[in-house]
Amino acid sequence: MNGLARGFFISFEGGEGVGKTTQIKRLAASLREMGHNVHETREPGGSPGAEAVRHVLLSGAAEALGPGMEAILFAAARSDHVETVIRPAVEAGTIVLTDRFMDSSRVYQGVTGGLDPAFMAALERVTVNGMVPDLTIILDIEPEEGLRRASARRGEGEDADRYEKEQVAIHRRRRKAFLDIAEAEPERCVVIDASAGEEDIAAKVLETVRAKIGVLDDAKAGAE
Ligand code: TYD
Repeated sequence: MNGLARGFFISFEGGEGVGKTTQIKRLAASLREMGHNVHETREPGGSPGAEAVRHVLLSGAAEALGPGMEAILFAAARSDHVETVIRPAVEAGTIVLTDRFMDSSRVYQGVTGGLDPAFMAALERVTVNGMVPDLTIILDIEPEEGLRRASARRGEGEDADRYEKEQVAIHRRRRKAFLDIAEAEPERCVVIDASAGEEDIAAKVLETVRAKIGVLDDAKAGAE
């Protein structure tokens, strides 16, 4: 079996150092082995327009403009990513895996950035424009452990980015915010314990994705 009639859109979310990137690579390899077309992408970025905005956001250059403006920049990057990369790929039958998506804005800008929920909801509606992930995998880990991993990964001589530098208390609030999203939207979100070994996590991720794609295939067969 090769190629789905409509592809599938999966986002990976979580705090710093939860291992999203590693797990996306492993899942992509497994899905390709099963014969699927897979596109790996990330936010902020993932399209030429959005990658240009990424540097402005991660360097901290936009920090002085305030959280509202940062949220708008993340949204601008996301809109370009959705319309030029994600939607066309999913419509062509590709499985798209993104390292962060709308839940990162809800958590980083909305919850810990303290922005007005109505403003955040309006931005989300416009930028996501119906392209809500079919599945969101939230990798969950103690913030201390995540930060340790993020700094080990960075290596010597490289500075922490603007978001890694923040205090553990903020990372705790973000962890809770991701878990709250999962609780509020159980059909879309699955939480996976990211403190386990890399192999175990990869097996759980694959099992979750297979179960979900199977359900969608059945639903399509039923509709035909
Ligand atoms: P990145 O270097 O990609 O790291 P990570 O491995 O943690 O994903 O940095 C992305 C940073 O941008 C991350 O700290 C979270 C932040 N971010 C937001 O604040 N809002 C958003 O909408 C997105 C997509 C990311």
